[in-house]
Amino acid sequence: MLLRSTLFILVTLVTILQAEDPPKYKTCAETSFCKTLRGQIPTDDLKLILDSFPNNAANQDSAVVKLKSSGGIACTLNIELLKNNLVRVKLIDGQYRYEIPEGIVLERKNQEIIKLNNSNDGTILTVVPYKKEDGQQQVIFNKNDSTLSFYYGEVPKVVVDISKIYLQKKAGNEEFAFNVSFKGAKQLYGLHHHAYNLELTDTVQKKDDKYIGEPFRLRNTDKVNFKADSTESLYGSVPVLYGYSPNSTSGIFVHNAAEQWVDLSKEAADPSAQFMVYSGSMDLFVLLGPHIEDVVQQFTYLTGKAHMPQIWTLGYHQCRWSYDTEDKVLDVMKNMKNNSFPMDAIWLDIDYTKEYEYFTWDTTKFPTAGNMLKTLGENHKKLVAIIDPHIKFDTTYPVYQGAKTNKYFVQNSDGTDYVGVSWPGKSSWIDFLNEDASKYYAAFYSDSNFHQNQTKILAGIWNDMNEPSVENRQDNEMSMPYELIHKYKSVIGLIDVKHGDIHNIYGLLHTMSTHQGLMARDNNGRRPFILTRSHFAGSQRYAAMWTGDNTPDWAHLKSSYSECMLSNLVGHVFCGADIPGFFEIEKKPTEVFVYRAYQAGIWLPFFRGHASKYAENREPYRYNETTQGLIRSAIRMRYRHIPTWYQLFYEHTQTGAPVIRPLFYNFSGEIGYNDHIMLGDNILARPVFEPDVKEVNVHLPGKGLYWYRIDGKSVKAYEGGTDTKINVENGESPVFYRGGSIIVTRDRDVMSTEEGSTLPLTVYVNLDKNFEAAGRLYNDDGYSFDYKQKKFLYAHLMFDEKKMLQVEPIGDQNHEDLTVVVEKVVVNDWAVLKDVSTHHTSDEDGNLFSNVDVVKALRSNGNKVLYKLRR
Ligand code: NOJ
Repeated sequence: MLLRSTLFILVTLVTILQAEDPPKYKTCAETSFCKTLRGQIPTDDLKLILDSFPNNAANQDSAVVKLKSSGGIACTLNIELLKNNLVRVKLIDGQYRYEIPEGIVLERKNQEIIKLNNSNDGTILTVVPYKKEDGQQQVIFNKNDSTLSFYYGEVPKVVVDISKIYLQKKAGNEEFAFNVSFKGAKQLYGLHHHAYNLELTDTVQKKDDKYIGEPFRLRNTDKVNFKADSTESLYGSVPVLYGYSPNSTSGIFVHNAAEQWVDLSKEAADPSAQFMVYSGSMDLFVLLGPHIEDVVQQFTYLTGKAHMPQIWTLGYHQCRWSYDTEDKVLDVMKNMKNNSFPMDAIWLDIDYTKEYEYFTWDTTKFPTAGNMLKTLGENHKKLVAIIDPHIKFDTTYPVYQGAKTNKYFVQNSDGTDYVGVSWPGKSSWIDFLNEDASKYYAAFYSDSNFHQNQTKILAGIWNDMNEPSVENRQDNEMSMPYELIHKYKSVIGLIDVKHGDIHNIYGLLHTMSTHQGLMARDNNGRRPFILTRSHFAGSQRYAAMWTGDNTPDWAHLKSSYSECMLSNLVGHVFCGADIPGFFEIEKKPTEVFVYRAYQAGIWLPFFRGHASKYAENREPYRYNETTQGLIRSAIRMRYRHIPTWYQLFYEHTQTGAPVIRPLFYNFSGEIGYNDHIMLGDNILARPVFEPDVKEVNVHLPGKGLYWYRIDGKSVKAYEGGTDTKINVENGESPVFYRGGSIIVTRDRDVMSTEEGSTLPLTVYVNLDKNFEAAGRLYNDDGYSFDYKQKKFLYAHLMFDEKKMLQVEPIGDQNHEDLTVVVEKVVVNDWAVLKDVSTHHTSDEDGNLFSNVDVVKALRSNGNKVLYKLRR
């Protein structure tokens, strides 16, 4: 008996210890292919040289260059020119190389190629569009120095050094590496997702002939306790890299879903990168710009844009691991309400399920989920719940049983189901690459399949742990082995695909399935809202993302800006970070930190409070009065600007433009201000990311511009092109409107987006030096896809020296049922406000445009609507 209990204690102890063991993540030197490839120049027998150019030809789909090595490698480079100043180059050699089917990462099933001409003089091959008007691409292969150069017109932008392409001769060895340099670039951006400064730095420095740092790793990973400022891999991967300079930007996208490591070198005149890839094909897209906004547009043309979010998703979300009973959910709702914190949704983490069986409810904790939702609904609150991709190993659980019978799980190489460990204990993972398995999972979102038929009460779904995360701390770095098998349904039947070939798109495939499920559930009538942790290029088409399990400290808070601004530059606009931070830490985050985190968080597109179950409660109403007051003002600032957020999301759906931006996106060359953020073109916020500061430096770009500071009790104008110290001792978090802009807000203290939706708007006219301003206004029904049929109201707002606010519809639209009411027009005039720090631009102040109170329906009916402002 004694022996048994000692054994039991020992086993328990071992289990606890194991659970607490920090996971082991590999360095490059511990990763076989990275170790082999890092910094290596192929030996002579592997070095690729020109074998033959294609015959001179016009009006072709592609140009094929043959390469060889003295050691017997033979391969081809297939060059295609695509619409939008893009070039695709694919290397084909004798190896089996997995190719991601088009329509998964690339939005289109067929790329839109343009016809090309190729000609060579024996040394130089030149590839240009057949019709000049089709694009500015020019691709040049120079036999002498073995370079493949990509030009925009006559300007060289990107160079791939053929002599540094590293392929192995050995059959079955798919790893490869290549080098790319960006001509004249000053900065490198990309390789999302890392908790790293927006400007990427050198990784190839050495001491005593040994590398000091690590390359950037792209391997979707559940990274426990991730550090800020690290090249270690996180939950998502977007293998695109931009070479930026103020007047010329270009990019390269590696269309490959396997693990990659990327070394950056900024020492030479042209910054360069070495991509080292585990497996799959070398399929490159070159984005020729010529400017940053063109590159972003090109990348989103390839990988797609987000659809419109339902408008409530732009409000504040309250989450915790876990509100695990109905009472707790309702309690959060009541406390938020009683303390006047606006909020749109409450989130359920894993504990709402019956023993972590997704698509079920734990009816002991949620006996009347429908009633709970009714109360939430009456208070204009929505419910979002988590659904992960691991399926509890339990033959009595229908989701498991069906997937097992149909062979829809990821398999071991012997064809048995892979079994690992996650929240439910023993689990298997749905094979989302298999179209039938994906459909099978999607179908559980339907009314009849969801436990208690209660799926529709979930306004949104949270797809977590989809790297996929497997409780596998020592051997497989918290994920599954690369040797596992997925099935791909092709025209010739099911094909085996190794997990390693698609590791980085597992999360993307998961969200595709969820999206499909929600679309079907809602009869295609509602825009699905999904939040995903794991993501890849293209995930923006299906889900919002957040930066994962951050620590509530200043470094992580600051890094969340770089992470989400980058995410916006690579297409994934709907990005946020846990506010004030997820993990428990030895010392509770200070009150100052918490309100600073909220003040920063309101400028990230996805805005959610969340914390671990091991952390103290972190809802806004848990803090002292001062902190609560500052959080409340911050959340209200967010809600005031929802009309602008919504307009910017719409514009993203059309152009791919980022919703939030670093300064340099709008102001060429304004590099390194990563504690500043722009919401669209016109709102600049500079939250505080430092403890104990009395003032912060605000960089207001643009000589000749005026900026209006709007976060104080009074508005003050500042000149652009200057750095200004702003006092923040009393919890200020500076926000500015750009002179020359018109910004539409809803200046009402609403408790949810829904409550605000019928309330009138305020129009801020922010005059530039010529006393003019312009802006845009967008609105639609807030939830359906009707906007795709142009059921929206989209208008230019203009204010000129005649003091008229002019409203002009943009393009064709059908906004019959949509009314936008403006209750007030506020004109910020630098000539009046410049030196008057206490001046308020309200009507009573008697400034130039006083008594401007316009209450009118803004229905433009296709005609111009003019408002004459009273003096
Ligand atoms: C990991 C997620 O990152 C975290 O946000 C969540 O609370 C836990 N999983 C539990 O589901």
